[in-house]
Amino acid sequence: VGFVIDLELCKKDGFCSQVCPAEIISMDGPQGSPAPVEDFEEVCLHCGHCLAVCPHGALTLEGVAPGDCPPIAKDLKIRPDQARQFLLGRRSIRRYKDKELERGQLEEILDIARQAPSGHNSQPVEWLVFSGREKVKEIAELVADWMGWMVQNMPEIALPLHMDRTLARFRAGGDPLMRGAPYLMVTHAHKDNGFAQSSSTIALTYVDLACYSLGLGACWAGYFYRAALAFPAMQQFLDLPEDHITYGAMFLGYAKYKYPRIPPRNPARVTWR
Ligand SMILES: Cc1cc2nc3c(=O)[nH]c(=O)nc-3n(C[C@H](O)[C@H](O)[C@H](O)COP(=O)(O)O)c2cc1C
Repeated sequence: VGFVIDLELCKKDGFCSQVCPAEIISMDGPQGSPAPVEDFEEVCLHCGHCLAVCPHGALTLEGVAPGDCPPIAKDLKIRPDQARQFLLGRRSIRRYKDKELERGQLEEILDIARQAPSGHNSQPVEWLVFSGREKVKEIAELVADWMGWMVQNMPEIALPLHMDRTLARFRAGGDPLMRGAPYLMVTHAHKDNGFAQSSSTIALTYVDLACYSLGLGACWAGYFYRAALAFPAMQQFLDLPEDHITYGAMFLGYAKYKYPRIPPRNPARVTWR
């Protein structure tokens, strides 16, 4: 079993047992130490909570030792007012500087996003990253083709969403589809994966927030997403693995403008019971 306790370090406080989502760590090991229950291997989510919560570094899980896991740096803890301003100050960015990102910055964004929560810790999200204005524009052209088809064939859906107007602006040389962004990040996963939609949405939200923290900006590519689900030419272009579909996308780059204020939003509609 890949669950190893260093009895010299373990204080038998039971933290690992308490936080385990599957409740598969008993305190029936040697000298009252934690021990895996019989069906541990089959049930374990591999979430690493037991390893991460131990203040004594006493637990090694599947060959991953405490020293392999980055410590939480106390001096990096942010105050509630900082967290609030950060979360409220994020905006959907639709104007970009003509400036490229380093590959390392894109990797950092994805390194943050891959740690977003996912159903049953299944981590189902995979990524397609398109780099360069030209390539993103090429994809915008496909979105425009889909819009043209929608306006022609499904006006009852297209017109209330003003697709005719958006398409006309695109054809006139604007870019209301990808906003001239230099990068597009697309998530995909198996079409039958029940955790993929929520996990993708959260991972992309992490992308959005990571961008903001790095002085970059991102925006949901809503039209692209709809085209990717419905338009064969787009699906051909994306060439996803067998049985995979798109679950969301964001375009991003260096934000051209800063927002010195937080815009108003509706009050929370809450029923307290
Ligand atoms: C699911 C979803 C799809 C969106 N699609 C688009 C889009 O296609 N184009 C766009 O410019 N903004 C899109 N947005 C951004 C919203 O317009 C934006 O979140 C909203 O206006 C609030 O602004 P804020 O994000 O700056 O707070 C989308 C947002 C979400 C959550």
